[in-house]
Amino acid sequence: MTAPPPPAPPSSATPRAPGRRLHMITWGCQMNVYDSGRMADVLAPLGYAPADRPDDADMIILNTCHIRDRAAEKVFSELGRLRLVKQARAEAGHPTILAVAGCVAQAEGAEILARAPYVDIVLGPQTYHRLPEMVARASRAAGAVIDTDFPAEQKFDHLPEQSAPQGLAAFLTIQEGCDKFCSFCVVPYTRGSEASRPAAAILAEARRLVAQGTREITLLGQNVNAWHGAGPDGAPRSLGWLMRALADLPGLLRLRYTTSHPRDMDDELIAAHAEIPAVMPFLHLPVQSGSDRILAAMNRRHSAADYRATIARLRAARPDIALTSDFIVGHPGETDADFAATLALIRDIGFASAFSFKYSPRPGTPAAGAPHQVPEPVKDARLQELQALLRDQQAAFNADCVGRTAPVLFTHTGRHPGQVVGRSPWLQPVHVIGPTSLIGQELMVKITTTHTNSLSGTLVPASNPAATQERTPA
Ligand code: 5AD
Ligand code: SF4
Repeated sequence: MTAPPPPAPPSSATPRAPGRRLHMITWGCQMNVYDSGRMADVLAPLGYAPADRPDDADMIILNTCHIRDRAAEKVFSELGRLRLVKQARAEAGHPTILAVAGCVAQAEGAEILARAPYVDIVLGPQTYHRLPEMVARASRAAGAVIDTDFPAEQKFDHLPEQSAPQGLAAFLTIQEGCDKFCSFCVVPYTRGSEASRPAAAILAEARRLVAQGTREITLLGQNVNAWHGAGPDGAPRSLGWLMRALADLPGLLRLRYTTSHPRDMDDELIAAHAEIPAVMPFLHLPVQSGSDRILAAMNRRHSAADYRATIARLRAARPDIALTSDFIVGHPGETDADFAATLALIRDIGFASAFSFKYSPRPGTPAAGAPHQVPEPVKDARLQELQALLRDQQAAFNADCVGRTAPVLFTHTGRHPGQVVGRSPWLQPVHVIGPTSLIGQELMVKITTTHTNSLSGTLVPASNPAATQERTPA
């Protein structure tokens, strides 16, 4: 492959400081956060360094999310604001490249260029590796560039090695896209069909992360547990195998993965929870509904009983596993009885936390055109009832942690003086009073207090000899 041409110099006559600045605005899921990082990596060789404010940026990328309500309107209103920034910079003699990326770009590319002609580049999630080429074309003012194809070659093959260190807890994308076509969801249309990144590339990136100091890796994918690949011997492998290979990397203490589909929780993955100490006792496993009628209407391809059985197997493998989920209330056709079945499932399982949403029609998805749309006030009432139950369960889960001693991986300082913050195995933030030298260490903490979204505790000296020596006097 030939290297993309370098971008043309800015046309302005005003002398410019060497180097260019890039401002990223990122909305949506962790995949988008990860993608923004990779776009910055792709642009770094062109001289783009980060800018905190759009006003200081030669290029602004709005990385969008389409998953829920009014995504397009939100994008157009943000673009209206950025247009003013672009105008003001142009008046000062500084051209600005404005790009829209992510799922809204994928879904509404042509519409964006029609309604916001001041946008220079529209690119879908599969084409980030072509950014340098698009920037070059946009800089030559050859007209707006749109690139939202699903190319046959996977974008994974073209991304450079990650440049910026990701820190103690890092994300690593191993899979993209989805073939499941849930009735309500845009992901199969915006992110394309399932594609797994090769095992060797994942292991190489994980090794680089660990060498840079990463101690916890969260594997990302829209359907992360659909990951499949080949081992070094060429044999077909799934996520359970991959986690074993990753857990063998010296220095890597913790592994997580998100987001999973209940259909893809195979025996090997469940065994990984039982057998690999680095695999954290935590799983986000969206169920969406507890009613078999609605699960069928959603095309989820599992029943409520299947989900309960999977949870029972996970709990048998790892009794302390914390479970979280996604719920949609008011999917077309949902009756009071269907909603009651969802509440019953939540009561039976007991979740550590959850995300819950009112169904909102996404144009082009089957559910958007389905009969028996649920009236908004009914959705509102159901969401409130469901969230009250989930809030109680979260409070109960956190309260149950008080008195337990658990390993905490410390990652940063807290807002209060002397405070250091880390994550429990169950993903709660945990605050302790201690020196900053705790950061980077995984240490035993006795949990003493619960707050709405976090816990506090004290270091357990006997199980943390190194930490005890480093403790500052109170
Ligand atoms: N309406 C409401 N919630 C949705 N989600 C996805 N699409 C929709 C929609 N059209 C929720 C699902 C999914 C989560 C990421 O967002 O619960 O698991
Ligand atoms: Fe969307 Fe998840 Fe269903 Fe795929 S499995 S269509 S990403 S909700």
